[in-house]
Amino acid sequence: MIFADPPYFLSNGGITCHAGKMVKVDKGDWDQSQGAELNHEFNREWLQRCQQVLKPNGTIWITGTHHVIFSIGYAMQQLGYKILNDIVWQKPNPPPNLSCRYFTHATETVLWAAKNSASKHYFNYDLMREANDGKQMKTVWTFTAPGRGEKTFGKHPTQKPLALVERCLLAATPENALVLDPFLGSGTTAIACLRQRRQCVGIELDPAFIQLSIDRIQAEQPDGEPIVSAVA
Ligand SMILES: C[S@@+](CC[C@H](N)C(=O)[O-])C[C@H]1O[C@@H](n2cnc3c(N)ncnc32)[C@H](O)[C@@H]1O
Repeated sequence: MIFADPPYFLSNGGITCHAGKMVKVDKGDWDQSQGAELNHEFNREWLQRCQQVLKPNGTIWITGTHHVIFSIGYAMQQLGYKILNDIVWQKPNPPPNLSCRYFTHATETVLWAAKNSASKHYFNYDLMREANDGKQMKTVWTFTAPGRGEKTFGKHPTQKPLALVERCLLAATPENALVLDPFLGSGTTAIACLRQRRQCVGIELDPAFIQLSIDRIQAEQPDGEPIVSAVA
């Protein structure tokens, strides 16, 4: 399985509200838009590489906002992925919209897709139904943004909640499955894998975020053997 949370391409001088204050949207250099066409080329390239390494029956999850998700969906169609679901991740406590010229953004999309139309993908239907009080689970999921407890070792500007990634793992993999995260960030996917007994390989550009991931991972097993191997 692959869990990918790629650049949003939204750090371009807009404003948002953080801790009650108006601040510029600046997630980092990696999040600057290069223009619609180059952004799409980038998305197509990494999605193609992911498709190459995905096993025949493996699946991929991709999170994104409107800045990037349409390009990703189109690139997936171009590459022949089979889209299985588009999940709406609803945030019950989004930051207010300070301009008062838009609705408050309160969702992200999570696409779930199989490698291609021949794939026989794994879906833990019974477990998902059980988690939803015996009813079929719908494609609207509600999770709050990660709280302080998930940020003890430092902050990442676009950190995902563990509960979201854990649900994806439980829905789409058996125990011990191998999971790739090509944009590891603060290591959320690795922690979710440890907690749900899956194996994880992560790729990350920024050494500070690699260190943050290592610190979080090691803290999961403070008395145990080293469980991380990092390769530059
Ligand atoms: C949206 S964030 C992922 C956040 C992550 N899901 C978490 O919970 O912490 C995207 C990450 O991709 C990294 N990144 C951007 N471009 C990259 C590239 N070409 N290769 C590897 N990592 C990249 C950024 O440094 C950033 O940490």
